[in-house]
Amino acid sequence: MLESENDTIRKCMKILVAEGEANEAERLIEVKSAHISGVSYDNIGEAGLEWLESLDAELKVPATLNPAGMDVERWREMGIEDDFYEKQMRVLKVFERLGVKMILTCTPYYLLKPSFGDHLAWAESSAIVYANSVIGARTERESGPSAIAAAIIGKIPCYGVHIKENRAPTILVKLKGDLAAAGYKAGRELRDHIPYFVFERSVTEEELKLLGAALAATGNTVMFHAENYTPEWRDFEKPSEKVEIDDRLEMACEPDLITIGCPHASLRELEMILKLMNGRKAKREFWVFAARDVVRSASEIVQRLEELGVKVFSDTCMVVSPATSRFRCVMVNSGKALHYLPNKRKVEVTFGDLKKCVETAVS
Ligand code: F3S
Repeated sequence: MLESENDTIRKCMKILVAEGEANEAERLIEVKSAHISGVSYDNIGEAGLEWLESLDAELKVPATLNPAGMDVERWREMGIEDDFYEKQMRVLKVFERLGVKMILTCTPYYLLKPSFGDHLAWAESSAIVYANSVIGARTERESGPSAIAAAIIGKIPCYGVHIKENRAPTILVKLKGDLAAAGYKAGRELRDHIPYFVFERSVTEEELKLLGAALAATGNTVMFHAENYTPEWRDFEKPSEKVEIDDRLEMACEPDLITIGCPHASLRELEMILKLMNGRKAKREFWVFAARDVVRSASEIVQRLEELGVKVFSDTCMVVSPATSRFRCVMVNSGKALHYLPNKRKVEVTFGDLKKCVETAVS
């Protein structure tokens, strides 16, 4: 493959060999799927677009895409400029030509769920933690280019959490309160530990999703175990080092935008938002992000939310879309959005759990 006549195959193989050498991998392993990041034109710019347009090869395994910089149907409503729209569509055209599934979401597991033990080449930090921890699949932190390379070659270097013994927890952490807020603090403290979490109450899969996303944003976590919840929590010895982390955050501003869906909302979260709205209309801008297929499968719920003034967007998110930059203060229920919004979109942020976000939106 390094000597293939196809320039794209040579390029992709070089990327994988370099990754393998840097991580002292002994071999390549086959992957079941790839998930590609770096899709928003806002992130990759002209150089990224040029690189993508130079690619020409068939995919060996199914691949999905991370959110782009806009809802491809409602981009005008988001306030996206024509020029950005055109550039973004060129990016998407490349992926379509390559045969990538046009599923633009950071929660590909809601649509094409991997199985326990599957090796993957995923490049979205929140999805990586979810796949490793909640599903028990195995993926390292791929980059956009290495995930594309893996989709074309069908393999990835075998190192890190692809190997069972590297999946052992290294620290026991008691988490208190809201898991997104506690995860935001925990990521900073735990860096690249593999935590073994103990909760003081029962938690949902959506809370585990928010926790993993926050950990990977402020820290470098690739996976966690959660006692009684995740599939491998009993497979290793409990770590002896212990810490306790709560959910107290000190930040406050008066939000002119409330956003939910970082990572993209599940069907159940859409239902919960509608229930919490309780027939009341949103009085502030209230944006919810979810995968287009999740939105389709919840069409009645989404229609009722829209009637209440909630905008349910797909293909994009509050962080990767330039649309959020025109607001002053954004309220989120996500530790990941809390971490990235100030830098990426130059806005102030404030935190609220789902209930508080809805109450603020209707007040
Ligand atoms: Fe997804 Fe965007 Fe958050 S890609 S995890 S919603 S920053």
